[in-house]
Parts: sequence; structure tokens; C-alpha cells
Amino acid sequence: MTNGRATATAHANIALVKYWGKRDERLLLPEAGSLSVALDKLLTTTTVELGVARDELLLDGKPARATELAKARALLDAAGIGGKARIESRNDFPTAAGLASSASGFAALAVAACAAAGQQRSVQELSALARLGSGSATRSVPGGWAVWQDEAAEQVHPPEHWPLSLVVAVCAAGQKDVGSRDGMRSSRESSPFHSAWIQQCRRDLPRALELLAARDLEGLGALAERNALRMHADALAAEPPLLYWEPATIACLRTLAALRAQGVSAWPTIDAGPHVVALCRPEQASAVADALGAIAGVRETMICAPAGGARVVDTR
Ligand code: PMV
Repeated sequence: MTNGRATATAHANIALVKYWGKRDERLLLPEAGSLSVALDKLLTTTTVELGVARDELLLDGKPARATELAKARALLDAAGIGGKARIESRNDFPTAAGLASSASGFAALAVAACAAAGQQRSVQELSALARLGSGSATRSVPGGWAVWQDEAAEQVHPPEHWPLSLVVAVCAAGQKDVGSRDGMRSSRESSPFHSAWIQQCRRDLPRALELLAARDLEGLGALAERNALRMHADALAAEPPLLYWEPATIACLRTLAALRAQGVSAWPTIDAGPHVVALCRPEQASAVADALGAIAGVRETMICAPAGGARVVDTR
């Protein structure tokens, strides 16, 4: 089946305990485990067509950078798909800077490519393949509330376990300057805080899982905020320093603190970029989105809910 074609979808995810550092650069294995939740409104749809004349990767209709094409090729090679592939990937969300589209993109690619090649693979195998594109993609394959520590991620709770709201505040347009892969390598090699950061993550993950099982928003929210700020402290201390934030990022942190002082339980997390994602109760999500949306520099807000994993949607 070298001429197959298939389409798959996957959701981006936001990490509550972050992955920031590899123990094996070649195998792309993390130094510490991470925990994330998939976001329903951040959906990528990817079609893979095999048996074409040359490798091609289109992201939202435009040819991707050579580095992205090389990662996609590495993933296909690892899946044993030797022939040329045309990959077309579209985001259902406004393509703003670094909204975790690599996680949804590579998860959808792994699932679509194997389906196009007629391969039957387990979620675990697909998750391990997605890892070769991007670490966070490993968690988007199982989706829901997912943990990744080794080769593959696993869903520890389905999306329905806890219908939290996750309010995304888009704090910049355009691509970030330093991607996660380079950023975490630089932090590992040059930040004096890096080993403390990794030790902290090893303590945070088991505690976060207890708080998640108990659906304790105050506990998990506060842990997620601390974990994110510590990751950014590690990155800020790298040489040269990695400053991912914009003024609107800090304004979001302060607005959420002010909301909490008024009794609204809303807690921030920030991946390797300027955008803020606030965890809150669904009944308070509109108020949180309105408060974040009113900040100068916040371009838009999206209220998301936990979502499931990557899946094949078409094989024609
Ligand atoms: O998946 P990558 O290689 O782009 O790295 C993602 C790193 C963070 O988003 C900052 C944290 C995480 O765990 O998703």
C-alpha cells in the first residue's frame, strides 16, 4: 500500500508539568515526566498521500521550513515508510505564534501516515512515533489528561474526568525566535538552574497526579503556575537568555492574580512562548476570558475544554 492516502486529526495540548530538557537528544527522550491536557479548539487536520514524486509538507497551504520537513521525514522513516509523501496540514485555529501546533501537527501526521501506509499500530506505538517530530506531540496522540515519561505517553484520565475550562490568551502574532528544541538544549547546557528544575519536575509530577485525581483546582492550578514560572526561570538563566514573554504575558499573570484575590479560581500556565493559558471552572470561564481579552496586547481569547486523542477521519 505505497499509494495510500489518509487524513487524521489531533488536538494541541497544554502542559501542567512541563517537559523542558532531553536526557537523550538522539532518541528524544525527556529528562523528567510531564503532564498535559488536550485542548478541544486547537485542532489540526493532516492528510498524507504516499506514492508521490517528492516529499512535500504544506502548513496552512504554505511550504514548511526545511527543518520541519526533515522532522516529518524522520518520523516517516521510523515508521518504515520509505516512499515519498505529500503532507498537508491545516490548523482549525488562528495560526498564531507557537500555539502548540507542532504537538497536534506531528500527532496527526503519525496517525495519518501509518493509516495511509495501511499499518495497524497501537496508540502507544503511534505516540512513540509522534515523539520524533516533537516531544509534546507524544502526549497529543493519546490525548485527554496525558503523562509522558519514556518512549510513549499514556492517557491517565479521559477528557470527561474533569470538565475544566482552559482559557487561551494569545499574546503575540508571528513565530517565536527560538524554538523549544533549541531552547531546552540551551537551558540544559548553560542554565545554572537546570538540574534544580528537573528535580522539581520529578517532585511535581506525582503531586500533580494526586491533585488531578482529586479534581483539586486550587492545588493543581497553583502547582501548574509554579511549574511554568520555574521553567521560564530556567530559560531566562540560559546563555544567551531566553525571554519568551511579551508585556501582555505579564499583564495576564497580574490580572489572574487579581481575579483570584476576588475569589475567581483562575491559574496561569505558559509554554515556550508568550501566550497564557488559564485553568478555571467552566462557569467562570467567560469572566476570565473577558478580563484577559481586555488587556492591551492580547489579540484574542479562546475558551477550550479537555479533548480526546488523535484519530483517523478519512482513508480516501
Ligand atoms: O514539543 P516541543 O519539543 O516543542 O517542546 C515543548 C515544550 C513545552 O511546550 C514548553 C512544554 C511541554 O511540556 O509541552
